Amino acid sequence: MENENKQENQPSSDRPRLLIIVGSVREGRFGPTVASWVAEQAEVHGGFQTEVLDLADIDIPLALPATSPKYAGDAYPRPAGMAALTSALDAADAFVVVTPEYNHSYPASLKAAIDWHFTQWTAKPVAFVSYGGAAGGRHAVLHLENVLTELHAVTIRDGLTFPNYFTAWQDGRPLDPAAPGYAKTVLDQLVWWAEALRTARGTAPYPA
Ligand SMILES: Cc1cc2nc3c(=O)[nH]c(=O)nc-3n(C[C@H](O)[C@H](O)[C@H](O)COP(=O)(O)O)c2cc1C
Repeated sequence: MENENKQENQPSSDRPRLLIIVGSVREGRFGPTVASWVAEQAEVHGGFQTEVLDLADIDIPLALPATSPKYAGDAYPRPAGMAALTSALDAADAFVVVTPEYNHSYPASLKAAIDWHFTQWTAKPVAFVSYGGAAGGRHAVLHLENVLTELHAVTIRDGLTFPNYFTAWQDGRPLDPAAPGYAKTVLDQLVWWAEALRTARGTAPYPA
């Protein structure tokens, strides 16, 4: 089927790399369902090379080394089981963080993954897809925006929010027929920032 959204003229290897992060790790979680749908929307959009990374597959201890990762570069002593996360964050030009809401914030797994890294987020755009009860994960996103700004990431204004996801989703997709259109808007904004910031990072080091 012809797809009018595909950026046909750009070789796939030139497209910015999008990393979709599954933020929840608990047993029976809904996060992977949301992330799969987002990856499908990114595929339809066609502007990215897309990878999904599930934090449940990564060794993320809560106890950090003595120093901050901010200045350590590759010398930061991360566990071997974290290597896939670090290299995926390093390679990414843009992120979609898929997050639920736990007690009016985001899961500890996500905070730990963020805190083990710093430069990997710098001068890169981040969009959020959240879900939860009545607030749809909005509290989680507000907190994430605050935290990621500290790491010099650029958070995108638009995002996708799914309140009461347990009635709003069926068979792995949202029931709202407008959802794919909202996803396209977010991905359009994200690819704009991803390309602009990739060029900027390649032109001059970010003055962090
Ligand atoms: C510890 C915990 C705290 C929660 N707190 C909230 C909350 O404050 N607001 C909300 O809307 N939903 C809350 N929920 C419901 C979750 O958003 C819902 O269970 C969601 O499925 C969690 O994502 P997950 O399945 O990917 O782990 C909470 C769930 C858990 C496990």
